[in-house]
Amino acid sequence: MPTVVEFQVNSTFNIVAPDSVRVSGYPVPGPLTPGVDPDYRFRSSLLSDVLVWQRGLLAGEHHDGLWLTGPMGSGKSSLIRQVAARLNLPLIEVNAKTRLEVADLVGYRTALGGDVLFQDGPLTRALREGAWLLLDEVDLMEPGELVGLNTVLDGGPLVIPDNGG
Ligand SMILES: Nc1ncnc2c1ncn2[C@@H]1O[C@H](COP(=O)(O)OP(=O)(O)OP(=O)(O)O)[C@@H](O)[C@H]1O
Ligand SMILES: [Mg+2]
Repeated sequence: MPTVVEFQVNSTFNIVAPDSVRVSGYPVPGPLTPGVDPDYRFRSSLLSDVLVWQRGLLAGEHHDGLWLTGPMGSGKSSLIRQVAARLNLPLIEVNAKTRLEVADLVGYRTALGGDVLFQDGPLTRALREGAWLLLDEVDLMEPGELVGLNTVLDGGPLVIPDNGG
């Protein structure tokens, strides 16, 4: 886990805020950090929801997901991408098309030169790397599948029977 540094919210996101308002992030981008879109315009009210959520996660106050809802193209995915970009946070993005199952997010067993190895899916990788997992169009997933995320969202471990538990 890299050292955490503080960013001044006003200069980092180009919004009006007192200098004293700060948020934590990493000093440099990692391999999973999205690229900065210099034209992205942050709106304070939406940004503050994301930053409050992030602060609670870092402080260990909750393990909740953040549900963003709004019309097509209104900037839900790019808000998350650009907050991660400015704070140098790792982000893994998956499109949750209708058929996406939690098992796909966890991973699968694969044969490699006579060995059977477990290949991490995006959820497993995000947990290992401490990355945000962005599930685009998550409302298209079956509700019964989403229930499979409850243990992790409650702060429990991800147990993978296929990978020896
Ligand atoms: N605040 C903003 N500033 C600059 N560009 C923006 C902003 N909001 C959205 N855009 C641009 O609009 C386009 C659509 O945004 P985005 O993909 O984030 O929307 P979305 O809500 O996730 O859409 P969908 O529901 O289709 O997934 C992107 O190219 C994005 O860069
Ligand atoms: Mg989107």
